[in-house]
Amino acid sequence: MFTLADCLLLLLALITVGASADPGYADSAELGSGTPSAEEIDLLESLSLLAVNSSNVSLTMSEGGWRCPTLQIGQYSTLTLPMRETFGARFEDEFSLLLQLRSWQLEDRSLLTLLNPYSHILLQIRLSPYTFSFVSTRHRHYEFPVGVLSDGAWHRVSVGVSAQRLALYVDCTLVESVSWNSPGLDITTDGLLMVGGIVEGFETPFEGDLRQMTFLMGNPDAASDHCAFHRPACKGASVAPKPPRSPGMSRTMEDLLLSSNDLEDLIENAESSTDMEVPPIVSVTLGV
Ligand SMILES: *[C@@H]1O[C@H](CO)[C@@H](O)[C@H](O)[C@H]1NC(C)=O
Ligand SMILES: *[C@@H]1O[C@H](CO)[C@@H](O)[C@H](O)[C@H]1NC(C)=O
Repeated sequence: MFTLADCLLLLLALITVGASADPGYADSAELGSGTPSAEEIDLLESLSLLAVNSSNVSLTMSEGGWRCPTLQIGQYSTLTLPMRETFGARFEDEFSLLLQLRSWQLEDRSLLTLLNPYSHILLQIRLSPYTFSFVSTRHRHYEFPVGVLSDGAWHRVSVGVSAQRLALYVDCTLVESVSWNSPGLDITTDGLLMVGGIVEGFETPFEGDLRQMTFLMGNPDAASDHCAFHRPACKGASVAPKPPRSPGMSRTMEDLLLSSNDLEDLIENAESSTDMEVPPIVSVTLGV
């Protein structure tokens, strides 16, 4: 359980991070073309906003000197975001995906899935006790041998996707870089992004903790710099000051700047929702 002070700290941390690291991708998406390269899309931030109203998900601050917002994903949770809101009108063919996660499941499970409106998988990240899999369109499925991602310890995982190569790094070390001459991933942004939950009934949903889930669009090389430059949004022990409202702040961030009464309500709701009965497994079907 987390205290009111923790919640406040957490919200402040998220707001500060949102205001500094992200000039407002919702705004740049509206501008259409001309989005800058290496756009940073912090999914942890967007997912954390959903966590308040979702069951079997919680947001905590990790213990220790560095306080990192951590999203705890239960097996009965499904977090979905509209891709258009998240990525804008276009999904770049080259990007890096940076993850920091902890999981102790012994099953094969999907962590992150991008679906088109017909529920077809455009991109999926899967984990098993022995593998990390990257699934993309045209039945391309790359399985990397990685034996540590089910051990319950924190790991950094980064994937670099370029037109020529697909590279995977785990804990700052290159696992493998395969050449694949991708003609493009064909990822459209009219569907959903999903974390946790399942697409097919027989699957096992992901259960674990996330401290970072960031896409760096247009920058396939960032994956190799994960540990040096692209660390998750952790704060030192001091409390960050409340940032001023700025016109560049995205709308969701403004929604977060609630009056203290609203905030207490939100926190109460968040706390009571963790006592709820176990909901059934949610399978996302977007129609056929
Ligand atoms: C949570 O749900 C309530 C009721 O549906 C809604 O009014 C509120 O805006 C939601 N909060 C967030 C942060 O999405
Ligand atoms: C999800 O629900 C299960 C079963 O009630 C519970 O054991 C687990 O702690 C919950 N996880 C989160 C993150 O809420």
